[in-house]
Amino acid sequence: MGALRISLTDRCNLRCRYCMPEEEYAWLPREHLLTFEEIERLTEAFVSLGVDKVRLTGGEPLLRRGLPELVRRLSGLPGVKDLAMTTNGVLLSRHAEQLREAGLHRLTISLDTLRPERFAELTRRGTYPDVLAGIDAATATGLTDLKIDTVVLRGFNEDELADLIEFARTKSAEVRFIEYMDVGGATGWTPEKVFSRAEMLETLAREYGHVEELRKTDVAPADRFRLPDGTVFGIISSTTQPFCATCDRSRLTADGMWLRCLYAMTGTDLRKPLRAGASLEELRELITGVWQQRRDRGAVERVGQRARGQVFVSLETLKRDPHLEMHTRGG
Ligand code: GTP
Ligand code: 5AD
Ligand code: SF4
Repeated sequence: MGALRISLTDRCNLRCRYCMPEEEYAWLPREHLLTFEEIERLTEAFVSLGVDKVRLTGGEPLLRRGLPELVRRLSGLPGVKDLAMTTNGVLLSRHAEQLREAGLHRLTISLDTLRPERFAELTRRGTYPDVLAGIDAATATGLTDLKIDTVVLRGFNEDELADLIEFARTKSAEVRFIEYMDVGGATGWTPEKVFSRAEMLETLAREYGHVEELRKTDVAPADRFRLPDGTVFGIISSTTQPFCATCDRSRLTADGMWLRCLYAMTGTDLRKPLRAGASLEELRELITGVWQQRRDRGAVERVGQRARGQVFVSLETLKRDPHLEMHTRGG
Protein backbone atom coordinates (compact mmCIF):
# COMPACT_ATOMS: atom_id res chain seq x y z
CA MET A 1 0.00 0.00 0.00
CA GLY A 2 1.77 3.15 -1.17
CA ALA A 3 -0.76 5.69 -2.38
CA LEU A 4 -4.09 6.82 -0.96
CA ARG A 5 -6.55 8.97 -2.87
CA ILE A 6 -8.95 10.86 -0.67
CA SER A 7 -12.12 12.25 -2.20
CA LEU A 8 -13.22 15.31 -0.24
CA THR A 9 -16.65 15.71 -1.78
CA ASP A 10 -18.79 13.98 -4.37
CA ARG A 11 -20.09 17.34 -5.62
CA CYS A 12 -18.73 19.08 -8.66
CA ASN A 13 -19.15 22.45 -10.34
CA LEU A 14 -18.73 20.86 -13.80
CA ARG A 15 -20.62 18.08 -15.54
CA CYS A 16 -18.00 16.49 -17.80
CA ARG A 17 -19.72 14.12 -20.19
CA TYR A 18 -17.27 11.26 -19.56
CA CYS A 19 -17.83 11.50 -15.80
CA MET A 20 -21.24 13.01 -15.05
CA PRO A 21 -23.31 12.66 -18.22
CA GLU A 22 -26.71 12.41 -16.53
CA GLU A 23 -29.02 15.24 -15.50
CA GLU A 24 -29.62 14.08 -11.95
CA TYR A 25 -27.49 12.42 -9.34
CA ALA A 26 -27.92 10.82 -5.93
CA TRP A 27 -25.52 12.55 -3.54
CA LEU A 28 -23.89 11.31 -0.38
CA PRO A 29 -25.78 12.56 2.69
CA ARG A 30 -23.97 15.63 4.03
CA GLU A 31 -23.86 14.35 7.60
CA HIS A 32 -21.84 11.38 6.34
CA LEU A 33 -18.99 13.52 5.03
CA LEU A 34 -15.87 13.02 7.07
CA THR A 35 -14.68 16.06 8.99
CA PHE A 36 -11.10 17.26 8.61
CA GLU A 37 -10.29 15.68 12.00
CA GLU A 38 -11.69 12.36 10.81
CA ILE A 39 -9.79 12.52 7.52
CA GLU A 40 -6.60 13.30 9.41
CA ARG A 41 -7.14 10.38 11.77
CA LEU A 42 -7.74 7.90 8.95
CA THR A 43 -4.75 9.25 7.03
CA GLU A 44 -2.62 8.71 10.13
CA ALA A 45 -3.73 5.08 10.23
CA PHE A 46 -2.90 4.58 6.53
CA VAL A 47 0.45 6.35 6.83
CA SER A 48 1.41 4.13 9.75
CA LEU A 49 0.80 1.17 7.41
CA GLY A 50 3.10 2.42 4.67
CA VAL A 51 1.16 4.97 2.66
CA ASP A 52 3.45 7.86 1.78
CA LYS A 53 1.63 9.43 -1.18
CA VAL A 54 -1.70 11.14 -0.60
CA ARG A 55 -3.81 12.72 -3.33
CA LEU A 56 -6.87 14.86 -2.62
CA THR A 57 -9.61 14.56 -5.22
CA GLY A 58 -13.36 15.01 -5.61
CA GLY A 59 -15.77 15.59 -7.26
CA GLU A 60 -14.11 18.93 -7.08
CA PRO A 61 -11.96 19.21 -3.93
CA LEU A 62 -11.92 23.02 -4.01
CA LEU A 63 -15.63 22.99 -3.21
CA ARG A 64 -14.69 21.87 0.28
CA ARG A 65 -14.69 24.95 2.51
CA GLY A 66 -11.51 25.70 4.45
CA LEU A 67 -9.43 23.29 2.40
CA PRO A 68 -6.04 24.88 3.25
CA GLU A 69 -6.61 23.83 6.86
CA LEU A 70 -6.85 20.17 5.84
CA VAL A 71 -3.79 20.52 3.61
CA ARG A 72 -1.90 21.97 6.57
CA ARG A 73 -2.88 19.06 8.80
CA LEU A 74 -2.02 16.39 6.23
CA SER A 75 1.24 17.92 5.03
CA GLY A 76 2.27 18.10 8.69
CA LEU A 77 1.86 14.36 9.24
CA PRO A 78 5.25 12.70 9.46
CA GLY A 79 5.34 10.05 6.76
CA VAL A 80 3.38 11.97 4.11
CA LYS A 81 6.17 12.46 1.56
CA ASP A 82 3.95 13.55 -1.28
CA LEU A 83 0.70 15.49 -0.92
CA ALA A 84 -1.01 16.22 -4.23
CA MET A 85 -4.40 17.37 -5.46
CA THR A 86 -6.43 16.79 -8.63
CA THR A 87 -8.76 19.67 -9.48
CA ASN A 88 -10.75 20.93 -12.45
CA GLY A 89 -9.10 24.30 -11.88
CA VAL A 90 -12.28 26.41 -11.97
CA LEU A 91 -11.79 27.81 -8.45
CA LEU A 92 -8.04 27.50 -8.37
CA SER A 93 -6.98 31.09 -9.00
CA ARG A 94 -8.53 32.03 -5.64
CA HIS A 95 -6.86 29.24 -3.71
CA ALA A 96 -3.52 28.33 -5.32
CA GLU A 97 -1.32 30.54 -3.15
CA GLN A 98 -2.98 29.49 0.13
CA LEU A 99 -2.70 25.84 -0.82
CA ARG A 100 1.00 26.12 -1.51
CA GLU A 101 1.53 27.96 1.77
CA ALA A 102 -0.39 25.21 3.58
CA GLY A 103 2.10 22.67 2.26
CA LEU A 104 0.58 21.16 -0.89
CA HIS A 105 3.39 19.63 -2.94
CA ARG A 106 1.87 18.96 -6.33
CA LEU A 107 -1.15 19.81 -8.41
CA THR A 108 -2.87 18.15 -11.36
CA ILE A 109 -5.42 20.13 -13.33
CA SER A 110 -7.92 18.52 -15.67
CA LEU A 111 -8.19 20.21 -19.05
CA ASP A 112 -9.47 18.36 -22.08
CA THR A 113 -9.59 21.05 -24.74
CA LEU A 114 -8.17 24.49 -25.52
CA ARG A 115 -11.28 25.55 -27.40
CA PRO A 116 -13.80 27.43 -25.27
CA GLU A 117 -16.79 26.18 -27.25
CA ARG A 118 -15.67 22.56 -26.87
CA PHE A 119 -15.03 23.13 -23.17
CA ALA A 120 -18.59 24.40 -22.71
CA GLU A 121 -20.00 21.46 -24.65
CA LEU A 122 -18.00 18.89 -22.68
CA THR A 123 -18.37 20.29 -19.18
CA ARG A 124 -21.78 21.89 -19.68
CA ARG A 125 -20.56 24.90 -17.71
CA GLY A 126 -18.97 27.93 -19.36
CA THR A 127 -15.95 28.50 -17.15
CA TYR A 128 -13.01 27.96 -19.50
CA PRO A 129 -11.28 31.32 -18.71
CA ASP A 130 -11.41 30.42 -15.00
CA VAL A 131 -9.47 27.21 -15.64
CA LEU A 132 -6.82 29.11 -17.60
CA ALA A 133 -6.57 31.63 -14.74
CA GLY A 134 -6.27 28.71 -12.31
CA ILE A 135 -3.39 27.20 -14.28
CA ASP A 136 -1.61 30.56 -14.37
CA ALA A 137 -2.13 31.05 -10.65
CA ALA A 138 -0.68 27.59 -9.97
CA THR A 139 2.38 28.37 -12.11
CA ALA A 140 2.78 31.74 -10.39
CA THR A 141 2.86 30.21 -6.91
CA GLY A 142 5.91 28.21 -7.90
CA LEU A 143 4.20 24.86 -7.36
CA THR A 144 6.51 22.61 -9.35
CA ASP A 145 5.53 19.35 -11.00
CA LEU A 146 2.32 20.75 -12.41
CA LYS A 147 0.37 18.28 -14.54
CA ILE A 148 -2.49 18.64 -16.96
CA ASP A 149 -4.81 15.64 -17.38
CA THR A 150 -6.63 15.28 -20.68
CA VAL A 151 -9.18 12.56 -21.37
CA VAL A 152 -8.99 11.89 -25.11
CA LEU A 153 -12.33 11.20 -26.78
CA ARG A 154 -12.52 10.19 -30.42
CA GLY A 155 -14.47 12.68 -32.46
CA PHE A 156 -14.03 15.36 -29.81
CA ASN A 157 -10.45 16.32 -29.00
CA GLU A 158 -8.07 13.84 -30.62
CA ASP A 159 -7.06 16.65 -32.98
CA GLU A 160 -5.70 18.71 -30.07
CA LEU A 161 -2.92 16.47 -28.76
CA ALA A 162 -0.08 18.58 -30.19
CA ASP A 163 -1.79 21.84 -29.19
CA LEU A 164 -2.11 20.59 -25.62
CA ILE A 165 1.54 19.54 -25.54
CA GLU A 166 2.56 23.03 -26.71
CA PHE A 167 0.19 24.67 -24.23
CA ALA A 168 1.52 22.63 -21.32
CA ARG A 169 5.08 23.48 -22.32
CA THR A 170 4.35 27.20 -22.07
CA LYS A 171 2.98 26.63 -18.55
CA SER A 172 5.94 24.44 -17.46
CA ALA A 173 3.45 21.61 -16.99
CA GLU A 174 3.41 18.00 -18.19
CA VAL A 175 0.34 16.84 -20.05
CA ARG A 176 -0.99 13.30 -19.62
CA PHE A 177 -3.41 11.88 -22.14
CA ILE A 178 -5.93 9.51 -20.58
CA GLU A 179 -7.90 6.84 -22.39
CA TYR A 180 -11.65 7.10 -21.91
CA MET A 181 -12.69 4.53 -19.28
CA ASP A 182 -16.07 2.82 -18.89
CA VAL A 183 -16.01 3.28 -15.15
CA GLY A 184 -18.79 4.41 -12.82
CA GLY A 185 -21.35 6.64 -14.46
CA ALA A 186 -19.60 6.93 -17.82
CA THR A 187 -22.90 5.95 -19.40
CA GLY A 188 -21.99 7.53 -22.74
CA TRP A 189 -18.97 5.25 -23.14
CA THR A 190 -18.65 3.16 -26.29
CA PRO A 191 -15.54 1.32 -27.55
CA GLU A 192 -15.55 3.53 -30.65
CA LYS A 193 -15.01 6.65 -28.54
CA VAL A 194 -11.78 5.32 -27.01
CA PHE A 195 -8.78 6.92 -28.69
CA SER A 196 -6.12 4.41 -27.74
CA ARG A 197 -2.59 4.86 -26.55
CA ALA A 198 -1.37 3.34 -29.85
CA GLU A 199 -3.37 5.88 -31.84
CA MET A 200 -2.13 8.75 -29.68
CA LEU A 201 1.46 7.70 -30.30
CA GLU A 202 0.87 7.36 -34.05
CA THR A 203 -0.69 10.84 -34.18
CA LEU A 204 2.18 12.40 -32.27
CA ALA A 205 4.85 10.57 -34.29
CA ARG A 206 3.30 12.01 -37.46
CA GLU A 207 3.50 15.48 -35.93
CA TYR A 208 6.87 15.36 -34.19
CA GLY A 209 8.87 12.44 -35.63
CA HIS A 210 10.41 10.00 -33.21
CA VAL A 211 8.63 9.62 -29.85
CA GLU A 212 10.87 7.95 -27.28
CA GLU A 213 9.36 5.97 -24.39
CA LEU A 214 11.07 6.69 -21.08
CA ARG A 215 11.93 3.94 -18.64
CA LYS A 216 9.38 3.63 -15.81
CA THR A 217 10.80 4.57 -12.44
CA ASP A 218 7.64 4.28 -10.32
CA VAL A 219 4.24 2.60 -10.19
CA ALA A 220 2.33 5.67 -11.36
CA PRO A 221 -0.32 4.89 -13.98
CA ALA A 222 1.25 7.13 -16.63
CA ASP A 223 3.84 5.91 -19.14
CA ARG A 224 6.08 8.81 -20.09
CA PHE A 225 7.47 9.77 -23.49
CA ARG A 226 9.94 12.31 -24.85
CA LEU A 227 9.71 14.27 -28.10
CA PRO A 228 12.79 15.15 -30.15
CA ASP A 229 12.82 18.67 -28.64
CA GLY A 230 12.95 17.23 -25.11
CA THR A 231 9.31 17.84 -24.15
CA VAL A 232 7.95 15.05 -21.96
CA PHE A 233 4.32 13.92 -21.86
CA GLY A 234 2.44 10.94 -20.40
CA ILE A 235 -0.22 8.47 -21.46
CA ILE A 236 -2.53 6.67 -19.04
CA SER A 237 -3.83 3.64 -20.92
CA SER A 238 -6.23 2.22 -18.34
CA THR A 239 -8.60 0.93 -21.02
CA THR A 240 -6.40 -0.78 -23.62
CA GLN A 241 -3.38 -1.63 -21.43
CA PRO A 242 -4.45 -1.75 -17.78
CA PHE A 243 -1.76 -1.48 -15.16
CA CYS A 244 -3.51 -3.34 -12.31
CA ALA A 245 -0.56 -5.64 -11.69
CA THR A 246 1.59 -2.80 -10.39
CA CYS A 247 -1.17 -0.81 -8.69
CA ASP A 248 -0.46 0.13 -5.07
CA ARG A 249 -3.29 2.61 -4.59
CA SER A 250 -6.56 2.61 -2.77
CA ARG A 251 -9.17 5.29 -2.33
CA LEU A 252 -11.33 6.77 0.35
CA THR A 253 -14.66 8.36 -0.52
CA ALA A 254 -15.80 11.57 1.17
CA ASP A 255 -18.04 9.53 3.50
CA GLY A 256 -15.28 7.16 4.56
CA MET A 257 -15.85 4.18 2.27
CA TRP A 258 -12.48 2.60 1.53
CA LEU A 259 -12.18 1.13 -1.98
CA ARG A 260 -9.30 -1.09 -2.99
CA CYS A 261 -9.78 -0.50 -6.70
CA LEU A 262 -11.18 2.14 -9.03
CA TYR A 263 -13.58 -0.52 -10.36
CA ALA A 264 -14.45 -2.07 -6.97
CA MET A 265 -18.16 -2.87 -6.50
CA THR A 266 -17.91 -2.92 -2.70
CA GLY A 267 -15.75 -1.23 -0.11
CA THR A 268 -15.01 -1.14 3.60
CA ASP A 269 -16.90 1.39 5.67
CA LEU A 270 -14.33 3.14 7.86
CA ARG A 271 -16.67 5.93 8.98
CA LYS A 272 -18.72 3.67 11.24
CA PRO A 273 -15.83 2.28 13.33
CA LEU A 274 -14.21 5.72 13.38
CA ARG A 275 -17.37 7.37 14.72
CA ALA A 276 -17.87 4.51 17.17
CA GLY A 277 -14.53 5.46 18.70
CA ALA A 278 -12.16 2.87 17.20
CA SER A 279 -8.57 3.31 18.32
CA LEU A 280 -5.74 3.82 15.86
CA GLU A 281 -4.69 0.23 16.46
CA GLU A 282 -8.20 -1.06 15.70
CA LEU A 283 -8.35 0.93 12.48
CA ARG A 284 -4.92 -0.38 11.51
CA GLU A 285 -6.04 -3.96 12.08
CA LEU A 286 -9.18 -3.50 10.04
CA ILE A 287 -7.27 -1.94 7.14
CA THR A 288 -4.47 -4.52 7.19
CA GLY A 289 -6.91 -7.43 7.26
CA VAL A 290 -8.72 -6.14 4.18
CA TRP A 291 -5.56 -5.20 2.29
CA GLN A 292 -4.03 -8.65 2.80
CA GLN A 293 -7.03 -10.18 1.02
CA ARG A 294 -6.70 -7.79 -1.91
CA ARG A 295 -6.83 -9.51 -5.31
CA ASP A 296 -8.34 -6.62 -7.26
CA ARG A 297 -7.65 -6.40 -10.99
CA GLY A 298 -10.60 -4.18 -11.92
CA ALA A 299 -9.40 -2.69 -15.20
CA VAL A 300 -8.01 -6.01 -16.44
CA GLU A 301 -11.31 -7.74 -15.66
CA ARG A 302 -13.19 -5.03 -17.49
CA VAL A 303 -11.32 -5.90 -20.71
CA GLY A 304 -12.80 -9.44 -20.58
CA GLN A 305 -16.24 -8.28 -19.45
CA ARG A 306 -16.38 -5.73 -22.25
CA ALA A 307 -15.47 -8.39 -24.80
CA ARG A 308 -18.50 -10.35 -23.55
CA GLY A 309 -20.67 -7.26 -23.99
CA GLN A 310 -21.22 -6.64 -20.26
CA VAL A 311 -21.75 -3.07 -19.04
CA PHE A 312 -19.96 -2.09 -15.84
CA VAL A 313 -23.03 -1.03 -13.85
CA SER A 314 -26.50 -0.19 -15.04
CA LEU A 315 -27.94 3.28 -14.61
CA GLU A 316 -30.48 1.95 -12.08
CA THR A 317 -27.70 0.48 -9.94
CA LEU A 318 -25.72 3.73 -10.15
CA LYS A 319 -28.74 5.69 -8.98
CA ARG A 320 -29.08 3.44 -5.96
CA ASP A 321 -25.46 3.68 -4.87
CA PRO A 322 -23.50 6.90 -5.41
CA HIS A 323 -20.33 5.08 -4.31
CA LEU A 324 -20.15 3.52 -7.77
CA GLU A 325 -19.73 6.90 -9.46
CA MET A 326 -16.35 8.15 -10.67
CA HIS A 327 -17.01 11.57 -9.12
CA THR A 328 -17.49 9.85 -5.74
CA ARG A 329 -14.45 7.62 -5.99
CA GLY A 330 -12.10 10.34 -7.08
CA GLY A 331 -11.10 9.94 -10.73
P1 GTP B 1 0.70 10.88 -9.83
O1 GTP B 1 1.24 9.69 -10.54
O2 GTP B 1 0.90 10.85 -8.37
O3 GTP B 1 1.10 12.18 -10.43
O4 GTP B 1 -0.84 10.85 -9.92
P2 GTP B 1 -1.92 10.06 -10.69
O5 GTP B 1 -1.51 9.84 -12.08
O6 GTP B 1 -2.32 8.91 -9.87
O7 GTP B 1 -3.09 11.09 -10.53
P3 GTP B 1 -4.31 11.62 -11.27
O8 GTP B 1 -5.33 11.97 -10.27
O9 GTP B 1 -3.89 12.71 -12.15
O10 GTP B 1 -4.82 10.38 -12.08
C1 GTP B 1 -4.80 10.41 -13.44
C2 GTP B 1 -5.83 9.50 -14.02
O11 GTP B 1 -5.38 8.15 -13.96
C3 GTP B 1 -7.15 9.45 -13.29
O12 GTP B 1 -7.95 10.53 -13.62
C4 GTP B 1 -7.71 8.17 -13.81
O13 GTP B 1 -8.21 8.37 -15.11
C5 GTP B 1 -6.47 7.31 -13.88
N1 GTP B 1 -6.34 6.52 -12.66
C6 GTP B 1 -6.02 6.99 -11.44
N2 GTP B 1 -6.04 6.00 -10.52
C7 GTP B 1 -6.37 4.88 -11.18
C8 GTP B 1 -6.57 3.52 -10.78
O14 GTP B 1 -6.46 3.16 -9.62
N3 GTP B 1 -6.87 2.64 -11.74
C9 GTP B 1 -7.03 3.00 -13.04
N4 GTP B 1 -7.33 2.06 -13.93
N5 GTP B 1 -6.89 4.28 -13.46
C10 GTP B 1 -6.56 5.21 -12.55
N1 5AD C 1 -12.40 8.09 -18.28
C1 5AD C 1 -11.15 8.55 -18.02
N2 5AD C 1 -10.87 9.43 -17.06
C2 5AD C 1 -11.89 9.90 -16.35
N3 5AD C 1 -11.93 10.79 -15.35
C3 5AD C 1 -13.22 10.92 -14.94
N4 5AD C 1 -14.02 10.13 -15.67
C4 5AD C 1 -13.22 9.49 -16.56
C5 5AD C 1 -13.45 8.53 -17.57
N5 5AD C 1 -14.68 8.04 -17.84
C6 5AD C 1 -10.75 11.41 -14.79
C7 5AD C 1 -10.24 12.55 -15.61
C8 5AD C 1 -10.39 13.75 -14.80
C9 5AD C 1 -10.27 13.13 -13.43
C10 5AD C 1 -10.81 13.92 -12.32
O1 5AD C 1 -10.99 11.92 -13.54
O2 5AD C 1 -8.85 12.38 -15.71
O3 5AD C 1 -9.37 14.63 -15.14
FE1 SF4 D 1 -15.46 16.75 -14.60
FE2 SF4 D 1 -13.87 16.07 -12.56
FE3 SF4 D 1 -16.26 17.15 -12.14
FE4 SF4 D 1 -16.06 14.66 -13.04
S1 SF4 D 1 -15.40 15.34 -11.06
S2 SF4 D 1 -17.50 16.28 -13.74
S3 SF4 D 1 -14.25 14.85 -14.34
S4 SF4 D 1 -14.54 18.14 -13.21
